[in-house]
Amino acid sequence: MSSKAPIGVFDSGIGGLTVVKEIMNQIPGESIIYFGDTARVPYGSKSQETIITYTRQIVRFLKGKGVKAIVVACNTASALALETVKAENELPMIGVVKPGAKVAANTTSNGRIGVIGTEGTIHSGIYKDYVKKIDSRIEVYGKACPLLVPLVEEGLLDDPVTREMVRRYTKDLLDQNIDTLVLGCTHYPLLRKTIRKVVGDEIELVNPAYETARSLKEVLINNKLENDELINENHKFYVSDGAEKFKRFAKTILPCEVIETKDVNIENY
Ligand code: DGL
Repeated sequence: MSSKAPIGVFDSGIGGLTVVKEIMNQIPGESIIYFGDTARVPYGSKSQETIITYTRQIVRFLKGKGVKAIVVACNTASALALETVKAENELPMIGVVKPGAKVAANTTSNGRIGVIGTEGTIHSGIYKDYVKKIDSRIEVYGKACPLLVPLVEEGLLDDPVTREMVRRYTKDLLDQNIDTLVLGCTHYPLLRKTIRKVVGDEIELVNPAYETARSLKEVLINNKLENDELINENHKFYVSDGAEKFKRFAKTILPCEVIETKDVNIENY
């Protein structure tokens, strides 16, 4: 596999762009092929079987584009499908949960971490499992927040309705005296300001995207797959529905031109 090949990144929708942004900042020499499964979002309330099927289709699509590594920029797919699909493929694949758990475990001072995420991610207990492997004394409290992804997909990032939902979802976690809160869904960094307003300044907010980009860099170096270009602007974006809407949104998040976004019938893969 050539080190000039692109990196495949995917999510159920726009959330994975928060991970793409970090990759572009930390390893700007890489080109990216992004797939957002906008026709089938949200993933968070679907069964593990369905998420594995979706992930297999997207991995086939990305491999068809010649990617050299894949980043599962979706906590739900990282929690429910990554291990299965990784075992079926020879190319390097990383998710966002393990890197996020590592930062959270290293961030907490009082050993009490809260995690917000989709139903799939929270019910899998995967953040707790990874954190406990690092330090079994740390307590991890999870809260599923099913309404936050649709609010983000609707662009209601700083809206009274979103603020109220964040307040309700985080109340139990704050009552547990957490000092660290993991944004355990790649859509949530887009709500960072709102979440900050609600939880106050004392809580550390962990965005797994930063550590994910660092892990990706390590994986590329270890596999001798690092692209030596200084800056790469050859990125491509695909979605399963609503390419124009996606493009408008992507332009507001990414530090690069989003020249073209194409619709793909992912069910064909
Ligand atoms: N952004 C994804 C995640 O990190 C999925 C959200 C969803 O589709 O429910 O879990």
